[in-house]
Amino acid sequence: MSLLELKDATIRFGGLIAVNTVSFAVEEGDLFGLIGPNGAGKTTCFNLITGVYKPTSGKILFKGQEVGGLAPNKIAEKGIARTFQNIRLFSSLSVLDNVVVGGFLRHKTGLLSALGYMPSAIKETEELRQQAMHWLEVMDLTDVAHHQSGDLPYGKQRRLEIARAMATNPDLLLLDEPAAGMNPQESEDLRATVRRLRDEFGRTVLLIEHDMKFVMNLCEKIVVLDHGEEIAQGGPAEVRNNPQVIAAYLGEPV
Ligand SMILES: Nc1ncnc2c1ncn2[C@@H]1O[C@H](COP(=O)(O)OP(=O)(O)OP(=O)(O)O)[C@@H](O)[C@H]1O
Ligand SMILES: [Mg+2]
Repeated sequence: MSLLELKDATIRFGGLIAVNTVSFAVEEGDLFGLIGPNGAGKTTCFNLITGVYKPTSGKILFKGQEVGGLAPNKIAEKGIARTFQNIRLFSSLSVLDNVVVGGFLRHKTGLLSALGYMPSAIKETEELRQQAMHWLEVMDLTDVAHHQSGDLPYGKQRRLEIARAMATNPDLLLLDEPAAGMNPQESEDLRATVRRLRDEFGRTVLLIEHDMKFVMNLCEKIVVLDHGEEIAQGGPAEVRNNPQVIAAYLGEPV
């Protein structure tokens, strides 16, 4: 059984078919890339997988169960976490509290308790804080744990989003353009960290990225979308040399 399977997943927005009969399977332990030109339907796929949109037709199976059309919180509880193309942090909260807020999702403790406003749940809150500090360490953010998250440079905000997603203890992590806006060194460091999330922490990763070096050096399997349709699927070398992929990117280096 695949961890995640899209079977002819389709969504229409009025006259536009943003994702058109897309099928692919992500196995446990995969580092899987979803690529394609702007407007190809990549983020919409994430929105279908995470319950932001209900598929017009087709199926989305997670651990063999249909999740297409379930509420986002129900899908998150099953073990899928994501980051966003446009960073979504609580910019006035500290870095640490942003991650604690992520962690409360799979915990009994309510949000207010998690942030320390209710003394009844201090023990559990302490566990959440320790978990949060652990993911901050993995994402190399320990030194800024008590900074206001809105004050962080962009690359660190992107890493913080990943720490927050990891605090929900997901089996499947979806990253929407994690390297966007990063310089080459930051992007290389992030590549090593994402690999570590799989190798050391056993997580499965499905990521969208325009940085081809990042994708080709990290992902073992890649699906390519163009205008909502899947045009190629395979390993990096296979995909890079596919004439349809080259044509879709119209000369952009792949
Ligand atoms: N809620 C919506 N209503 C109408 N159209 C939408 C909606 N969401 C996405 N679309 C359209 O679906 C298409 C695919 O958008 P999507 O954001 O999935 O592309 P993408 O592959 O993530 O592109 P990019 O690389 O630019 O982020 C686009 O034409 C977009 O305008
Ligand atoms: Mg997108």
